[in-house]
Amino acid sequence: MNATKSAQYRVGIIGVTGYTGAELVRVIHAHPALELSYVAARETAGKRLGHALPSTRGVPGLADLVVESFEPEQAAQLASRVDVVFTALPHGASARAGAALFEAGLIVVDLSADYRLRDVATYEKWYGPHPTPALIATAVYGQPEWHAEQLRGARLIAAPGCYPTSAILALAPLLEASLIEHSPIIIDSKSGVSGAGKAPSQSSHFPETAEGLRPYKVAGAHRHLPEIEQELSRAAGAHVQVTFTPHLVPMNRGILTTAYARLRSGASADQCRAAAQDKYGSGLVSVLPADSWPDTLHVRGSARAHVGYGVDVRTQMVVAVAAIDNLARGASAQAVQALNLALGLPGETGLPEVALYP
Ligand SMILES: NC(=O)c1ccc[n+]([C@@H]2O[C@H](COP(=O)([O-])OP(=O)(O)OC[C@H]3O[C@@H](n4cnc5c(N)ncnc54)[C@H](OP(=O)(O)O)[C@@H]3O)[C@@H](O)[C@H]2O)c1
Repeated sequence: MNATKSAQYRVGIIGVTGYTGAELVRVIHAHPALELSYVAARETAGKRLGHALPSTRGVPGLADLVVESFEPEQAAQLASRVDVVFTALPHGASARAGAALFEAGLIVVDLSADYRLRDVATYEKWYGPHPTPALIATAVYGQPEWHAEQLRGARLIAAPGCYPTSAILALAPLLEASLIEHSPIIIDSKSGVSGAGKAPSQSSHFPETAEGLRPYKVAGAHRHLPEIEQELSRAAGAHVQVTFTPHLVPMNRGILTTAYARLRSGASADQCRAAAQDKYGSGLVSVLPADSWPDTLHVRGSARAHVGYGVDVRTQMVVAVAAIDNLARGASAQAVQALNLALGLPGETGLPEVALYP
């Protein structure tokens, strides 16, 4: 165990060798109340974590953990070894593992999309059959700034998607404060390649990404669209539809989202900043001053998000920008922030707040 901590909760990670799993290891190791005591994956089962995940080599308490293989039938046994499990798995597999662990009495934080969408039919349209639809109503959408109340005491937490996190953080305050029209809303997002996970593919291959910049899943084709619309609709108190275009950028980490919406009559950029400031206070989302813009470089490796607002007075369009690290704020650090709230701890407990700069 990390010598500086007095852990109260034993934690497991299933899918520890993936990119979000590796990021969870980093965050949990630095957390004063969490102790990583169980790790699982498939291909490296039986190996030491220091071998399976070289970023842990030489770290006491981590490198010597043995990677195990997990099957849902083992959930009851695992319940005597850990208090909390993060499932950092592809959708479908994540729901099956999480359901068994939840039924065994554990706190489950699911990094996949499996418990994010409230509507089963919407989930099945985008992801295929849901293995455990009855649990959807029990899960809490784990966006800490917008669901803090529901997260208190939650036992099944759906960690938000990376693109939705950036879009929600930038736009939801403006919708909640009725500062923008509900249509049109255009969300242009750019993500680093780690967003696609560690499995190599033609589109994430270095020569295909290193010197280029391209949109993908254009014109309403990306799976994060219904999640973005679900949460923006909740903030607006009305059904909201958006145009969302993701892009792949030649960098490892980071998402920059630039969103455009029509201002309601009389609203100003100052009011947009004030609405976001009211919502986020002095927490982990920083509202930047006028003429200062978010940059993925300034949040890399951090749980912090930066948001900024400007208005084109000629067109009366607001430009709302958010920068996050897709693996930290967009996945693992935010998932731990949600767990903190579920456990009754301050949300920022143990989280990396200062970016890896440059
Ligand atoms: N990458 C991001 O920026 C990001 C952000 C937010 C949310 N997410 C979501 O988080 C989840 C994990 O993403 P990731 O990027 O960490 O993925 P990843 O890098 O591809 O890692 C997946 C992990 O799951 C294991 N695994 C793969 N298929 C499995 C299966 N069928 N059954 C059991 N284990 C399996 C892998 O272990 P083996 O290699 O041993 O099979 C690996 O440890 C996904 O649902 C993803 O959508 C990702």
